[in-house]
Amino acid sequence: MFTVRVPATSANLGAGFDCLGLALPIYNEIRVRRSEKLIVHTDPGFPSDESNLVVRSMKAACDKANAQTPAVEIWQTNGIPSTSGLGSSAACIVAGLIAANELLGNVLPRSELLNLAARAEGHPDNVAPAFEGGITASVMTDRGVEVFCAPASDRYRIALLTPRFQLSTKKSRGVLPERYERADVVFNVSHAVATFEAFRTGDPDRIARVLGDRMHEPYRLPLIPGAAELFRSLRAAGAYATYLSGAGPTLAAIVPNDFSFRAPDGWTLRIVPVAARGAEVLYAD
Ligand code: HSE
Repeated sequence: MFTVRVPATSANLGAGFDCLGLALPIYNEIRVRRSEKLIVHTDPGFPSDESNLVVRSMKAACDKANAQTPAVEIWQTNGIPSTSGLGSSAACIVAGLIAANELLGNVLPRSELLNLAARAEGHPDNVAPAFEGGITASVMTDRGVEVFCAPASDRYRIALLTPRFQLSTKKSRGVLPERYERADVVFNVSHAVATFEAFRTGDPDRIARVLGDRMHEPYRLPLIPGAAELFRSLRAAGAYATYLSGAGPTLAAIVPNDFSFRAPDGWTLRIVPVAARGAEVLYAD
């Protein structure tokens, strides 16, 4: 019996659409043991058969390794709220891939698991920090996913405001334009590069100066009632910078360590550091 623990992730970080992300100390866990047939214990509303995302991801890893998928009993604990812009599906995919590889004796290199995860998600910005921890810039290349890592810093925290309603990634991607003006592309390319570098230095004032986006937030914020006003309130309360976490609806802010804020009714506030560690396999003593 072993446990795979995978962190939540917050993607985009402003201009880094489908590219930048960071890990958060909020976790999905699966406990796994070999069994005679597939048994999945999970929360109501999650499938407990072969259609379960963890189970499908285990099969994808076994197929890649040309191995039969072992029968297992799984206890799935979903600490990451689903469809909230915090990488819950990426966490399930990464957990399944790592669990299968563990059962197979780690025949697949981590880079191959990352490629499988990015392909399953369609973009690498959540799965990369879920694997690596810290802050990541990831690129889909002809040879697979290339990941650059920056360390977590204790000079700031991440405030996450999550509303009670969900917003599907499909719907949130559906409102994005097919084409962009050159000025907006230049804005995002320059800001994305600078944002990663600012996170790498860990300097919150530099993060504040360069975090911004013209590619997805202007189109998505209207889907989240109160979002623009909450961004303004967070900044007025002392946040260094604000951004839409992934496809939303969670709103994120880079904040001082002593930041305090009162979440409005219907919203949950979490203030957490960046998680330094990515997905891990844990064995009880
Ligand atoms: N980069 C993705 C998006 C993250 O913004 O749509 C959500 O899966």
